[in-house]
Amino acid sequence: MRSQFLCAAAFALQALAAPSWTSTPFNPPSIPLAVRSPYLNTWLPQGQGVALNDAWPSFWAGRITAWVGFVRVDGISYTFLGAPVVDGANFTKATQKSFSFTSTQSTFVLSAGPVDVTATFLSPVEPTDLVKQSIPLSYLHVSVASTDGATHSIQVYSDISGEWVSGASEWDIQWSTTTTDILSHQISLVSPAKYEEISDQSQYGNWYYSILNGKGASAQIGRDAVVRAQFLNNGVLSTVKDNNFRAIADSWPVFALEKDLGKVGSTAAAVTYAIGHIRDPAIKYVLAGNVKQDRSLYFWSKYSTAQQVISFFLNDYSNALASANALDKKVETDAAKISPDYAGIVALSIRQSLAANELTISKNAHGGWNTSDVLYFMKEISSDGNTNTVDVIFPASPIFLYLNPKLGEYLLEPLYRYQTTGLYPNKWSIHDAGAHYPKADGHNDGTDEAMPVEESGNMLIMALGFARAANDLTQIRRYQGLLDQWTQYLIEDSLIPTFQLSTDDFAGQLANQTNLAIKGIIGIRAMAEISKLLGDNAKYTNYSSIAADYVTKWTTLSASKTGPHLTLDYNDDASWGLAYNLFSDVHLGLNLFPKSLYDQQTAWYKTVVNKFGVPLDTRHTYTKTDWEVWTAGIVTDQGLRDTFISSLKAYLSNGLNNQAFPDLYDTITGVALGFRARPVVGGHLALLLL
Ligand SMILES: *[C@@H]1O[C@H](CO)[C@@H](O)[C@H](O)[C@H]1NC(C)=O
Ligand SMILES: *[C@@H]1O[C@H](CO)[C@@H](O)[C@H](O)[C@H]1NC(C)=O
Ligand SMILES: *[C@@H]1O[C@H](CO)[C@@H](O)[C@H](O)[C@H]1NC(C)=O
Ligand SMILES: *[C@@H]1O[C@H](CO)[C@@H](O)[C@H](O)[C@H]1NC(C)=O
Repeated sequence: MRSQFLCAAAFALQALAAPSWTSTPFNPPSIPLAVRSPYLNTWLPQGQGVALNDAWPSFWAGRITAWVGFVRVDGISYTFLGAPVVDGANFTKATQKSFSFTSTQSTFVLSAGPVDVTATFLSPVEPTDLVKQSIPLSYLHVSVASTDGATHSIQVYSDISGEWVSGASEWDIQWSTTTTDILSHQISLVSPAKYEEISDQSQYGNWYYSILNGKGASAQIGRDAVVRAQFLNNGVLSTVKDNNFRAIADSWPVFALEKDLGKVGSTAAAVTYAIGHIRDPAIKYVLAGNVKQDRSLYFWSKYSTAQQVISFFLNDYSNALASANALDKKVETDAAKISPDYAGIVALSIRQSLAANELTISKNAHGGWNTSDVLYFMKEISSDGNTNTVDVIFPASPIFLYLNPKLGEYLLEPLYRYQTTGLYPNKWSIHDAGAHYPKADGHNDGTDEAMPVEESGNMLIMALGFARAANDLTQIRRYQGLLDQWTQYLIEDSLIPTFQLSTDDFAGQLANQTNLAIKGIIGIRAMAEISKLLGDNAKYTNYSSIAADYVTKWTTLSASKTGPHLTLDYNDDASWGLAYNLFSDVHLGLNLFPKSLYDQQTAWYKTVVNKFGVPLDTRHTYTKTDWEVWTAGIVTDQGLRDTFISSLKAYLSNGLNNQAFPDLYDTITGVALGFRARPVVGGHLALLLL
């Protein structure tokens, strides 16, 4: 992480009327629409509530990604998606009746004259199917049903603009339309730049907007007002071709798809759109000898063209929906055991967290795909764009432990492999696998953001957690040398941590951080457990006794002499902070720290709760959503646990924010402080592990 975004101005709210529709389970700061990869990451910002057809969808970083939907009912048109203005044509806005979200879906119901339109945005979550999980496409399913007992003639229209294709609208784009079993627009930059981004949007690859082909399906590309007026006035698109490739903002070309649903009564008729971005290669990765490897998304092992994978995806909608509904139900059932508020927080976190990650494979020497060579890559979205940041994977790790711990191992693998090459010079764990996504080109000069105790502890704790959860010792066996090297570092520096950063780098460097010492000591004890799993009982005994000895010494060093609480840093009696690193002691069942410590912290936190939660520490009034939930996992009083959750929900639903689940916010004002759309929200699943 880094601190630069902290000062981002808080979103200034317009005075909006309270929404007239129902929101279930609540109205979040921003609604995930198509959220499946770092680049397919489009949302509907909310504040106090914005209807699907009241504003433009936008990329997580804020830039508009125009997306329009019209439904034409007996020749009268209504918008249900986006905020288009079309000269020379008449339409009105459908009226939003409800909005709801689950872990995989955001669903809007709008009334358009005598029909209801249901727009379901489904971003699949397929944690154990690597082919499906790696397909960077999302669904928009539009279904229409009559509400007045009569049948109506229905056509559905949707388009996207070139804004999806680059982070800057002066870039020239080109396009084509495939007409096979699918109707599919393909849009790309005329001059792409491999592995580059502008304002976090990818500068290469192809965007696709597609429906199944067949009777009543039509497609058109052209100037926004021309194409939209064509539909509004005729109910069908024109075969006239606009092949005047030009800049995104030059007469705004749009990519439209229409489906005539015919006569529709009270039984719904529907059309399914697929939107997505496919780039190949996806990731640049550094190998031994500083050789750079191009890596591709996993799904290429099964499909050899974009058209094939899009066709599969569109034809698979009913399976995808069934699978999504099953996952939604499981998450809801598990999380509701904590509370309904918790279930909502978890549901909002899942798409966001997983969309930061991409599953890749390499080609073997003969040009075939090597599906034994799976590496998973995470973009540190919003805070600085690093690749596979260890202290971002760590807070996110509960989502992988819950959904599929192998995914966690696939995330650690690029870090282990790179540090095994000897190219990285430091004795502690690296901070990240590359300074900017989608490049994982390492840090051969060793000047990555140094968080030596933090990252070494994180790697050891995750190594043990994933190996146990996956019930597979292969990875810890292969990398036990590195794990032991990091343990030596922790033995030297974790009891009295030198002046350094922890993961909360925005709060600045500090010596003797109490919570950081907890991380380091648990890391040492994790290596004891790893050694035991690998059959080295002498090492188990040695490292466990070092960890136990450190706990004894730490107990004296970290206690405040004035208050019954842990300090933020040693010898700073008035200070305190969230001791969220204790979560790993609980989760891994180590029982390293005494129960009395948990009781003490529980009693203390009860005295320092603000309206929207407990501050991260005494330096500021802000906190982190992930650490609120981790701390909720260590307190010994269910009432306080529920207070952590309900105040987090109060922040999320207070109408003061409009970014993708921002994880840093002020506990007094409830205003977000800049971090958004980050994978760390996967940490909100922590309570599902206990
Ligand atoms: C729009 O509707 C108005 C009122 O019904 C009508 O006078 C006008 O001609 C329509 N315009 C177009 C472009 O259809
Ligand atoms: C496939 O990848 C694995 C893991 O990197 C490697 O050990 C193996 O040699 C590769 N196979 C081929 C045929 O390249
Ligand atoms: C850290 O704590 C130790 C133990 O109390 C103390 O000796 C040392 O001076 C502290 N370091 C700093 C920089 O405050
Ligand atoms: C225990 O581990 C420490 C740190 O690696 C090492 O210095 C020490 O020699 C070990 N003790 C035994 C008895 O192996």
